[in-house]
Amino acid sequence: MKFFIDTANLQEIQEAHDLGVLDGVTTNPSLMAKEGIFGHDNVMAHYKKICEIVDGDISAEVIATDYETIIKEGEFLAELHPNIVVKVPMIRDGVKAIRYFSEKGIKTNCTLVFSAGQAILAAKAGATYVSPFVGRLDDVSTDGMQLIDQIVQIYSNYGYQTQVLAASVRHVMHLVQCAEIGADVVTCPLNVITSLLNHPLTDIGLSKFLADHAKGNK
Ligand code: G3P
Repeated sequence: MKFFIDTANLQEIQEAHDLGVLDGVTTNPSLMAKEGIFGHDNVMAHYKKICEIVDGDISAEVIATDYETIIKEGEFLAELHPNIVVKVPMIRDGVKAIRYFSEKGIKTNCTLVFSAGQAILAAKAGATYVSPFVGRLDDVSTDGMQLIDQIVQIYSNYGYQTQVLAASVRHVMHLVQCAEIGADVVTCPLNVITSLLNHPLTDIGLSKFLADHAKGNK
């Protein structure tokens, strides 16, 4: 399972990269705004900085919602760097644009997916990735993980090449359940990745090992 970090914060991206387990990055307009990155040129420059840190797929989202402008924005984004994946919302013109990008060999990430039907449509259109939002479904009392399970099963039934990128992953249990189900990718904040390190018995065990080692050195 690939690990993507879901942020536009360069320090966090660098930290996850330095841990040696990072396969890519996902961003969205809200994450850009959170870092205070506004305006076309600043946003494009920021994507380039991310691409310099991580040698893996970097999702960059279009803002347009009409077909012609989605194509224009997506082609511009794809020209920025070979690792850019054009992130397109699950809307009618978005699906049409994913088909267009797929035929042009431009990688896509179909975002804001909340149902298995939407995921089937994304795969039929030739999306490289589909992004079901686990946490946001949980937020409305719907089992987000069940959707991941459904999509993985459906894609396996038909051999769809679209990779299941579990998004809105909020905690370690989400991540581990994605791995059990067989999601291709999880994208999550840095704290979810670093939380994987934690177990109290590791800390207790290490303290004991170091204390016992110190006895011999007295
Ligand atoms: O990748 C999608 C993600 O940014 C949404 O996460 O936590 O805002 O639902 P969240």
